[in-house]
This record gives sequence, C-alpha cells and structure tokens, in this order.
Amino acid sequence: MKIIIINGPNLNLLGKREPTVYGSETFEDYFNDLKSKFPAIDLSYYQSNIEGELIDKIHEVGFSFDGIILNAAAYTHTSVGLGDAVKSIETPVVEVHISNVYQREPFRHNSYIAANAKGIIVGFGLKGYELALNSF
Ligand code: DQA
Repeated sequence: MKIIIINGPNLNLLGKREPTVYGSETFEDYFNDLKSKFPAIDLSYYQSNIEGELIDKIHEVGFSFDGIILNAAAYTHTSVGLGDAVKSIETPVVEVHISNVYQREPFRHNSYIAANAKGIIVGFGLKGYELALNSF
C-alpha cells in the first residue's frame, strides 16, 4: 500500500514552532518512528510552503497512490485551489490537523478540503497522522 503524508506551510518548523500548540517533536523524527511502526506500508512524506507545489504533488500522486494524509495547514482555511485539487483526484484524502482547530480562532473553523475528504482527524497532536494511517 502506497501512502503519502503531505504537509503544508510552516509545518517544516514543527518542534520549534509554538510548541505549546504543536508539541516539541520534529516531523522528521515522528515520521521515522511512524515508518518503523508500519513497515508493510510504502510511506512517503512531502512538505512545501508553496500552494502551487502542494497542488502539483496532489496531482502527481492522486491517481496512483492508495491514500493521501493531508495537513494543508493555513491553506486549509484559504485555498479554493487545494480544495479543487482534492476534488479532482481519485486517491482518498484524510485531512489531519495537529491542534483542535475548533477550539481556536473562528477563521480556522472553515476547511476547503473537508467536503471532499474521506475523513477528518483533528486535535490529537502528531498521533493524528497514525490514526489517519490506520484508517486506510
Ligand atoms: C494546523 C492548523 C492550522 O489552522 C494552522 O494554520 C497550521 C496547523 C494544525 O495542524 O493544527 O499551520 O493545520
């Protein structure tokens, strides 16, 4: 099974960025642990701070991979283009947010991804990616 985790803007700073909200572990460390926990899954990881690059990656994997775990970060709340990309592909997408966006500012309550996601996991910290992985 081929699954990719796609992380959006500022998530390259996990571990350093607002640790009270996002924790103190880097994504690279978490990802390596996740890969060793799921050796049977062909698991890859992509991060970009650039909206168009995220859309290109979704197009690239969206007709051949078995699953996409997408944390579009701030673009979740702003990007019609990313929402349309998720709508345009065949691979199921699970939307993940590390923090519980519904406990935060109202602008974080809207998602352009959610309507076309297979499911949504919010507020479980980095563990949300593992929960998403188990959902495929
Ligand atoms: C986030 C929540 C978003 O509102 C925020 O812009 C992020 C991270 C999360 O994982 O909790 O960058 O997607």
